[in-house]
Amino acid sequence: MTNLEQIDKTRIPQHVAIIMDGNGRWAQQRGKERCCGHQAGAETVNKITETAAYLGVRYLTLYAFSTENWNRPEFEVQALMQLFIDSLKEETLMKNNLRFRVIGDKERLPLNVRESINRCEADTSSNTGMTLVLALSYSSKWELTNAMRLLAEQIQEGKIRPCDINEENISQQLDTAFMPDPDLLIRTGGELRLSNYLLWQCSYTELYFCDTFWPDFSANDFYDAIIDYQHRERRYGKTREQIQ
Ligand code: IPE
Ligand code: IPE
Ligand code: MG
Repeated sequence: MTNLEQIDKTRIPQHVAIIMDGNGRWAQQRGKERCCGHQAGAETVNKITETAAYLGVRYLTLYAFSTENWNRPEFEVQALMQLFIDSLKEETLMKNNLRFRVIGDKERLPLNVRESINRCEADTSSNTGMTLVLALSYSSKWELTNAMRLLAEQIQEGKIRPCDINEENISQQLDTAFMPDPDLLIRTGGELRLSNYLLWQCSYTELYFCDTFWPDFSANDFYDAIIDYQHRERRYGKTREQIQ
């Protein structure tokens, strides 16, 4: 018995972002190495990608590695990089008609990871199904700093004036420029924080936190988040009367 029947298929969030947290604690609870949790988490990525695409989500943005995660022990960082290479399967992306994109500071990633990303992005660019976005070596503060540099360059080159800076051209300089802002943000693993994720883009996103560790997060848990989202009233500063 799942909660699928309770979902209103006409009001599926267009963009769902997920902070996939709790892999390490999931493994430690089982007396295993943290990296076993990351491996189990990769399987959850496949399952939830399939679930989201099935429901008709257009963009799924998964936080896989933050710029702060570079400060983890060397062997964990290396294991994660290897896991990204092993998990990036063009065949699966193609079979499911998924478009694949990466946001984040790609320059910091090892060459073989960058090559895998470039190949998957290029090969899937004409697919018409859901866009699967991985945030890799990503943080909002990095992204916004980068956007400000790009705008400053345009000013220096005389292409725009400081008074031309607006919300739209700031958004256009972000890595996420190709997609709408998230409608729903899910964080697994029990922490109640955003950890430098999509801060600009989530200014009006509905937030959903759950205690389940990412490797245990099921399709049914995803349905629960969608159902919860569908009970929210998105007012964007207006009154309830104006919305109705
Ligand atoms: C999230 O799980 C995955 C990454 C940050 C790469 P964690 O590794 O943060 O797991 P916990 O929070 O320590 O349990
Ligand atoms: C956030 O998880 C980053 C990812 C899920 C990739 P962390 O586990 O790194 O977050 P903090 O440091 O506990 O906030
Ligand atoms: Mg964590």
